[in-house]
Amino acid sequence: TSMNKVAALFCFTVITFINVNALNTKPFPKDFKFGVATAAYQIEGGWNEDGKGENIWDHLVHTNPTAVANNDTGDTACDSYHKYKEDVAMLKYLGVSHYRFSLSWTRLLPNGFANKVNQRGVQYYKNLIKELKDNGIQPLVTLYHWEMPQTLQELGGFLNNNFIDWFGDYAELCFKLFGDDVTNWLTFNEPGPICQHGYGLGDLAPLYKSPGIGEYICGKNLVLAHARAWHIYDDLFRSKQKGSVGIVIDSRWFEPETNKTEDIQAAEVMRHFVWGTYINPLINGDHSSIVKEKIAKRSKQQGFKRSRLPEFTEEEQKYLKGTLDIIGLNHYSTYLISAQKHPDPDAMGFYVDCEAVARQSDDWEKGGTDWMRVVPWGIRKLLKWIKHTFNNPKIMITENGFCDNKDKLLDDDRRINYIKTYLSNIRDAMDKDGVNVVGYTLWSLMDNFEWTLGYTQKFGIYHVDFNSPNRTRTKKKSADYYKKVIATRCLTD
Ligand code: NOJ
Repeated sequence: TSMNKVAALFCFTVITFINVNALNTKPFPKDFKFGVATAAYQIEGGWNEDGKGENIWDHLVHTNPTAVANNDTGDTACDSYHKYKEDVAMLKYLGVSHYRFSLSWTRLLPNGFANKVNQRGVQYYKNLIKELKDNGIQPLVTLYHWEMPQTLQELGGFLNNNFIDWFGDYAELCFKLFGDDVTNWLTFNEPGPICQHGYGLGDLAPLYKSPGIGEYICGKNLVLAHARAWHIYDDLFRSKQKGSVGIVIDSRWFEPETNKTEDIQAAEVMRHFVWGTYINPLINGDHSSIVKEKIAKRSKQQGFKRSRLPEFTEEEQKYLKGTLDIIGLNHYSTYLISAQKHPDPDAMGFYVDCEAVARQSDDWEKGGTDWMRVVPWGIRKLLKWIKHTFNNPKIMITENGFCDNKDKLLDDDRRINYIKTYLSNIRDAMDKDGVNVVGYTLWSLMDNFEWTLGYTQKFGIYHVDFNSPNRTRTKKKSADYYKKVIATRCLTD
């Protein structure tokens, strides 16, 4: 529209006069995707409605309520199961081109297995997708955002290598049911929390504690399950549906604490522990050598006969290689890394095996959670590193956003500042470093269930009143800020 052109011209004029630290006000490319993100368990509610089966989060909140702040549950959450039309109206108001959401596995397959499909669950997602399409919004769908069916968990979940078949069957069903309307697919959201926290440290569902062993088995089965879904799509659906299948990796930026060689190396090792465990196999067919060597060395010292990091067979390597159409990146903050061996040589675990410690600086502005520190330059460094390490892949920023912990903070200037400065650094990475970023889905459309932190952390650009039975949504100032960014495709003060 002509308004947008005027705004774009204004951006161009402004950029000529600003210094290097100022906002990058060059417009984002015309086809850049702007959206917002959510996940099923965090917003839907309707946990046992219309035939939905139990998943590991339903199970956790009902059997172990103290595991979650204030004994909160996602039983009703934002009630999007009933209020999806209102959600889409909010998306329409924002002017987004894309909406990232996830499918609840047990809403579609109550027992996890693909033999019994719950038609009412299918209908819910058909309705949501239709509502989006009718409003000109493209769905970006995550297949697994932390909701393992409880039946499959009881068989070991990610520790059982039959998981690869179970997930493949589920993915195939989703491609068949929704693939004519959904072309952007993401398999797993955040392998790090799934494996390192779900099966290593044991502080996210299913709270399974097996540091240095279970978490690596989980990682192996997870990447193989991703590859299975990718191959199914490639063999059976791609030529007709013309979509893409990616994964979502969570990564902070790891900055060396000092410029001592060992700290510089430790930061690089840490980056490879995150990227080399999950992304390297899907691009190059195997774990990064740095990761393999470290874990093999420590395992040997501890008397193990083989590395605690299970190896891929040659056949598996071939199967894995080249199975990523796009990388989804969730990024929030930065850590300072220094080299440090664990005092106990027998200690095991992801964070021990990499022989590095991470901390955040008190100089960095703090948000609602311990880990939320505002470090906008970190995302630019990370994007540059990804480009360099993985030969310039296509990247979609699938999550980025700011949390505070005050209820009903509608004048959320700190969130606006976060969005603005992070987007500016993303724009710099594209513009000045040539990183291939195709889109951005902000976390999150609205305040929601933040896992074990319950409703204490607010990430939304819409406030949700969790005390009112109809979960009233109210826009925050950041919603209008983001709306303006989307409309003008550029950042202004
Ligand atoms: C990571 C997860 O994907 C999402 O579920 C969570 O709410 C946000 N980041 C914020 O922690």
